[in-house]
Amino acid sequence: MKNVLVIGSGGREHAIAKAFGASRHELRIIVAPGNAGIAEEFETLELNTLEEMVSYCVQTRPDMVFVGPEKALAEGLADELEKLGIPCIGPSQKAARIESSKIFAKELMQKNGIPTASFFFTYDENQAIEYIENHGTFPLVIKADGLAGGKGVHIVQDKSQGIQAVQLLMSQTSKGVVIEQYLQGWEVSLFAFSDGENYCSTVFSQDHKQLYDHDQGPNTGGMGAYSPVPEAEPWRNEVEEQIIAPVLRAMNQEGCPFVGVLYCGLMITKDGPKVVEFNCRLGDPEAQAVLPLLETDFYDLCQAIVNKQVGQLNLSWKPESCVAVVMASRGYPGSFQKGYPIHIDPSLEAEICYAGVASPEGELVTSGGRVLTVLSLAESKEQAHAQVYKELKKIHFQDQYYRKDISLRDNKIQAFP
Ligand code: AMP
Ligand code: GLY
Repeated sequence: MKNVLVIGSGGREHAIAKAFGASRHELRIIVAPGNAGIAEEFETLELNTLEEMVSYCVQTRPDMVFVGPEKALAEGLADELEKLGIPCIGPSQKAARIESSKIFAKELMQKNGIPTASFFFTYDENQAIEYIENHGTFPLVIKADGLAGGKGVHIVQDKSQGIQAVQLLMSQTSKGVVIEQYLQGWEVSLFAFSDGENYCSTVFSQDHKQLYDHDQGPNTGGMGAYSPVPEAEPWRNEVEEQIIAPVLRAMNQEGCPFVGVLYCGLMITKDGPKVVEFNCRLGDPEAQAVLPLLETDFYDLCQAIVNKQVGQLNLSWKPESCVAVVMASRGYPGSFQKGYPIHIDPSLEAEICYAGVASPEGELVTSGGRVLTVLSLAESKEQAHAQVYKELKKIHFQDQYYRKDISLRDNKIQAFP
């Protein structure tokens, strides 16, 4: 029996635990801290701080640690585990800068000719304002450096909006701001499992970040995803050769080889794919749509990463589509009520990945903005879409909200309105 520790508490970590659960190996899977929904299926353990995680690993020496969220990686969990000789899927603190510092990522891309939006970076509010004052074409994209959970991005249509965004970001962060060219196109995500030298890429997936149907409303942590994305396949070679391989090579040259999952957030533009962002981990909710399609044994894949044998792997995938829809609390990403009981009809024929749930008195209640993800696999995307929306009607909680158009996006380059 091998002991696997999954770090994190959301739907992504539930999906990771399920992927380990489907392994042919005999595994004891512990999710830390997990949540009350994950606890219905797996062991969970209250480990919340880096110190708690490290001290637990010192005591129990798990055979594999899979780190879900970026925070623990940016804090250096992988470095601590490396010192202990404990296998870890997730990059070192230095390598995690690819996500934790937008400026590190942008400079790395610029230095290595990796296609991305042109940018200007400054720590100085007046300089940022001056740049916007002198800039002729809009929209522009303004982002804070550092981790922002996808919510620190402002797309501005004119100078006055731009100046407002700079002032707001500067008042919220001690770090700098990145001002970027707006990329027109359609977005798609691709993960690469990397052992530091070699990598294998997954199926493409597509997140739906905005709150309302037809990509309207504020950005969220992600309202649903689906996989694969056939329209992205013609770009795979270009993405691998011009983006993934060079960035992994560059990380090596910087002295911080990337071991773990590299998330490539891509914009397919009229000039081909460009990087919107890199993350140092699996995407959420994309992981909930991608991992269920993986046919290769997930524990074997993780072992190939820690043993530096990814080059010998050929990932295999189920010939199916997966559509994953997030059920959220009405009001999210702003304020919302919590504590509503979650009712699930026993006839439900879909998988659930739990995120914002608790069970103060034994029954599951809502406790977060994104409550759970419902997902279905079927032969085609259309069938998976129909199936997941049919099944989702068997789940009820007060104030529930979900998008009705997950997987229906038309992946074409639209002119900016
Ligand atoms: P990020 O936190 O960098 O992933 O940005 C969040 C979202 O903002 C992305 O998923 C895009 O939808 C949008 N976005 C970010 N940068 C750009 C850009 N340069 N051009 C167009 N859209 C962008
Ligand atoms: N789905 C976007 C992210 O995980 O950052």
